Amino acid sequence: MKVAVFMGGTSAEREISLKTGGAILESLIRQGYNAYGVDLVEKNLVSAFVENDYDVAFLALHGEYGEDGRIQGLLDMLGKKYTGSGATASAVAMDKHITKVVADNIGIRIPKTYKSIDEIENFPVVVKPVSEGSSVGLYICQTKEEAATALKELEGKEPIMEEFVKGEELTAGVLCGEALGVLKIKPHDGTYDYESKYTVGKTDYEYPAKITEDEYATAMKYAKSIHEELGLQGGTRSDFILSNGKVYFLEVNTCPGMTETSLLPKLASLKNYTFDDVVKKILTSIA
Ligand code: DAL
Ligand code: MG
Repeated sequence: MKVAVFMGGTSAEREISLKTGGAILESLIRQGYNAYGVDLVEKNLVSAFVENDYDVAFLALHGEYGEDGRIQGLLDMLGKKYTGSGATASAVAMDKHITKVVADNIGIRIPKTYKSIDEIENFPVVVKPVSEGSSVGLYICQTKEEAATALKELEGKEPIMEEFVKGEELTAGVLCGEALGVLKIKPHDGTYDYESKYTVGKTDYEYPAKITEDEYATAMKYAKSIHEELGLQGGTRSDFILSNGKVYFLEVNTCPGMTETSLLPKLASLKNYTFDDVVKKILTSIA
């Protein structure tokens, strides 16, 4: 079996994807797979999938054209096997608004969302692109004016506006249907932004999260049920805020980062799975 690890791409998370892809490729080679990596750039974004020789595409792509169902659709059309979720599930999960509508529908607690600035009842609010990852383009706004400025900054991208739930950040992983555990994120400077996410030493992680049994069980249940409801596959990671004993679902990542600071491998270690185990499970669940 020849495995091509597709990484890079043209989204705002390109650099993270290169790290994720590099780590996955190293792991596959370490495990004796016949694997090679492909750096996707604008020029080969489509042709690389058509022209390369592979039996399975290992998708290590984050964000637009990678995690959002479009590449998955292309691979479906080419009749190629690929890791992770299918086209529709990926597209739905990439849209934070639609995902929240689904989550709400199955009884998962979500922050209050707003369609327009005039509807906002309480500040601060979070304004961010509906389909972006790694906190790229995220604004925390204290006033209507700040929210209007944030919307302007995001012009050209569909935004989502929601209540800013003040609390602790949690994340929970699911690997091929198995809930792995819950981790608490403690960024040193208070916000878990792009820098805190990817700079070694900028954030502390507590895993398993020291929260009440109920809170832990709720985050696990929410992560598993959104994974199942959307029909996700492979490894997924759901992000939450814990506020006053209540767990609020923020989003689910269908191709979570697998870099040295990434969380899915940490969550997997709670089940004694190594990085290599995670990679192998994601691959063998489809191939
Ligand atoms: N979107 C980034 C890669 C993550 O969720 O890990
Ligand atoms: Mg995300």
